[in-house]
Amino acid sequence: MPQKIILDVDPGHDDAIAILLAQGNPEIELAAITSVAGNQVLEKTTYNAMRVATLVGATNIPIARGAEFPLVREQITDGSVDAGSVHGVTGLDGPELPEPSMELDPRSAAQLIIDLVMAGEPGEYTLVPTGPLTNLALAMRLEPRIVGRVKEVVHMGGGYTIGNATAAAEFNVLADAEAAAAVYAADWTVTMVGLDLTHQAIATPEVRDRIRAIGTDLSRVVDEWLDFFGAGYESVWKMPYPPIHDACAVARVIAPEVVHSEEAWIAVETKGQWTYGETVTDFTGTGGQPFNNLAATKLDFDAFWDLIVDAIKRLSA
Ligand code: RIB
Ligand code: CA
Repeated sequence: MPQKIILDVDPGHDDAIAILLAQGNPEIELAAITSVAGNQVLEKTTYNAMRVATLVGATNIPIARGAEFPLVREQITDGSVDAGSVHGVTGLDGPELPEPSMELDPRSAAQLIIDLVMAGEPGEYTLVPTGPLTNLALAMRLEPRIVGRVKEVVHMGGGYTIGNATAAAEFNVLADAEAAAAVYAADWTVTMVGLDLTHQAIATPEVRDRIRAIGTDLSRVVDEWLDFFGAGYESVWKMPYPPIHDACAVARVIAPEVVHSEEAWIAVETKGQWTYGETVTDFTGTGGQPFNNLAATKLDFDAFWDLIVDAIKRLSA
């Protein structure tokens, strides 16, 4: 049986590839998409989510608009939300995309998540957030019972040795650290698919050649996304090839052996002057806290890109 997931996204080039992988892989049933402000302002991330859903044929699922601002902190607007981010002014600069073929669900993202999870069987849904965790925090506060009914949360965010928005913090967590702190402390299991993992998922020239060789309109769109995203990564972070962060979270749901994870105690710092937004991770039990979550550590690079290429081919057929 395919695993039902609710993707919570802030597209974002790598979010777009995560949506494509979820729609294109038979092990996943993409049950809903919810948007959140992050890479760009909410209006743009919502519009992008609808355009990508239209592009990949995810046109008969609910798509709901989520949180416009973080729970407590001010929104990050230092160029990573408005013009100048690695995702561009639109949040998904590069190839032309279709206009949305669907209407937005009238519910908020939090309400849609609650309604689906509460109507489903216990364990029926996995939540896969690939942006700031504002929507999940709101949903679990509105309806605490979802924490016991969700199978697991697989989050692209954080990291246990590096940050990318500050020395200590990864962007998705930094953008709403209070929301992340609540989500990581709740009684469900969060698998943190952080930068230590996602920086292994780089789009090398060989990978680019494989995608171009598919030779379809969709593969050309992905190739142009990687062109734009790659240029941003090279100029902002001096990385020669872009890491496709968000698709790693979907790959973890599809094939846990492709995204190896280990038990850990993980908590989000919200008080530190220099460490605000850090996902403090203990693999050893040194601090005496119980292992409450999982942290992704090792990617099977070839198997990961096989999943992406396969999804593009399936959706191109
Ligand atoms: O730090 C990487 C994360 O920030 C990814 O989800 C990317 O889309 C951006 O949102
Ligand atoms: Ca994202």
